[in-house]
Amino acid sequence: MTSNLPNISRLKSGELFLQPDRLEPCILVIFGAAGDLTRRKLLPALYNLVREKALDERFAVVGYSRSPQSDEAFREILHQAVSDYSRAQPIDEIVWQQFSQSISYVEGNFEDPEGYVALRERLEQLEQTIGSEGNRLFYFATPPSAAPVILHRLEETGLLTGNGEGSPWTRVIMEKPYGRDLDSATDLNRIVGEVLQENQVYRIDHYLGKETVQNILVARLGNTIFEPLWNRKYIDHIQITAAESIGVEGRGRFYDQTGVLRDMVQSHLLQVLSLCAMEPPVSFAADDIRDKRVEVLRSLRPFNAQDVFDHVIYGQYRGYRDEDDVDTKSRTPTYAAIKCYIDNWRWQGVPFYMRVGKHLSKRVTEISVVFRPVPLCLFGRDDVCQSLEPNILTIRIQPDAGIALKISSKRPGDQMDVGNVEMDFSYSETYESPIKDAYERLLLDAIKGDVTLFARRDEVEYAWRFVTPILQAWEGAQKRQPVFYAEGSEGPVEADTLMDRYSRQWREIET
Ligand code: BG6
Repeated sequence: MTSNLPNISRLKSGELFLQPDRLEPCILVIFGAAGDLTRRKLLPALYNLVREKALDERFAVVGYSRSPQSDEAFREILHQAVSDYSRAQPIDEIVWQQFSQSISYVEGNFEDPEGYVALRERLEQLEQTIGSEGNRLFYFATPPSAAPVILHRLEETGLLTGNGEGSPWTRVIMEKPYGRDLDSATDLNRIVGEVLQENQVYRIDHYLGKETVQNILVARLGNTIFEPLWNRKYIDHIQITAAESIGVEGRGRFYDQTGVLRDMVQSHLLQVLSLCAMEPPVSFAADDIRDKRVEVLRSLRPFNAQDVFDHVIYGQYRGYRDEDDVDTKSRTPTYAAIKCYIDNWRWQGVPFYMRVGKHLSKRVTEISVVFRPVPLCLFGRDDVCQSLEPNILTIRIQPDAGIALKISSKRPGDQMDVGNVEMDFSYSETYESPIKDAYERLLLDAIKGDVTLFARRDEVEYAWRFVTPILQAWEGAQKRQPVFYAEGSEGPVEADTLMDRYSRQWREIET
C-alpha cells in the first residue's frame, strides 16, 4: 500500500529531507589532538567512516597540539587508540595504513601565532596535494576557555575565510561544555559571532547523534498511537535517567571544575528532555526542529533559590575526593536528581524528573513515560486493583537500545487476577546492522553541512538560563555538602524524597 502522506519537507523547502549523501572533500583540523576525546572518540569514528567508505577520498586530518612529535609518532598513538576504541573490531590494518597516510601533525600551543602560521602552510600544501578545494573543518576538542584564543588566532592568520555553505567552506565544531554558565556562554557566542556566521558553527552534543536519541522523534511522530496521549491529560510524569557505572576515569582535573550539571545536565539531559517534550515541527528541516527544541527550553520553569534545594538533590560518590587531581574537600556533585516543570499548554503540571550520576550500579540511559492510573477499580477486589501498575513506555537509549511498553493483563486462571507484562522491542534483535557511534554521524553531518543535530546559539543560552541558578545556588551555599552515595548503588536515597511526596517511584536502575 502506498502512503498518501505529503512530503512536507519537499513541499516547504523545495528540498528533500533525506538528501542523497553529498560527499565533499575537506581537511579536518583537530585542536586538542593529544587529548582523550581525540583518541577515544574522534579517530575511532573517522576510522569507521573511512572503513565504510563514507568519506570522500580527498580527505585529510591534521592534529594540532603542544607536544613536539613527528607525524609518524602521532599516527602510532592514534593507531593504538583506534585499536582500543573502534566499535568495529578487530581493526582492518590495510584500511588503517591507507587512512593513516592522510593524517599529519602540527606542533603549536593555542596562543602562539607561529603555530597557526605553520598550520596555514600545512593546509595550503595539503590542499594542493589532495585537492580538497579549500574546505576546512576545525574541531575544538578543547576546554571552553581555549575557544576565544583559538578563534582569534585563526582569524588573524586568515584561516576563517568563506562561509558555512558553498565551496570553499569553513566550519567549526565546538565541544561541550559550551561555556561555564549563562554569562560565559553568551560571551562565547558573541565572540564566535564576531568571526563566524551561525551556519559555520557546529556546537556538538553527542547525545543528539545517538541513533536511539533520534528515535525519540520517530517513536512519537511516526506512530499515530502515541502522540494523542503525549500530554498532561494522559501522562503522570516523565523520568529521564542517565546512569553511568564508570567514575571520572582519569579526568579528575576537568571533572572537579565541571561537575555533573555542566557535564551532563546542561547538554545531554536537556537535549533528551527537549526531544521528549517538543511540539511536532513544521518539517524536519534543521531550523524547524531546532525552533521546537528551543521552545521547550524557553518554557522550563526557572528555579528560584528556595526551589533549588526542594527540587534538586546534589550527590557525590564516596571515594570521589580520593581520585587523582580532585580536591580532597571537593563539593563537586557527581550525581544530580532534578524535578522540573515545563510551563506550556501541553505539559502544565506534569513533572519531569532527571537523574544522572557516575559510579552507579549500571550503565543505563532511558526515558520512561509514566501514564496516569486507571480512573476506577472495576475488577472487584481492592487488592487486584492495587496491583495494577501504570502503563509505562520506556525508550531505552543505551546500552540495550529499544522500546518497552508495560501493560496490564489478566493472569490465566478462574480468578480475576491481573498482572503487569511488557512488550519489548530490541534494536539488536531486530536489526542486523550495528548502531554507529554518535561521533560518526555528527562528523559526517558537519562535513555535509547539516546542522540539525547541533545546538543553535539560542539553544545553548536557554539551556544555561535554566541550569545557571541551580549551579549558583549550589556554589553559593558553601556550607552545604553533597549527599554521599556508595559506588555501585542506585544513588543517594535522598533522591527518593523528590518522588515520595507524590507516591511516585524512580524506576529501578538495576532491572
Ligand atoms: C560526556 C561526559 O559528554 O558524556 C562524560 O563528559 C560522560 O563525563 C559521557 O561519561 C557519557 O557519554 P555516553 O555516550 O557514554 O553516554
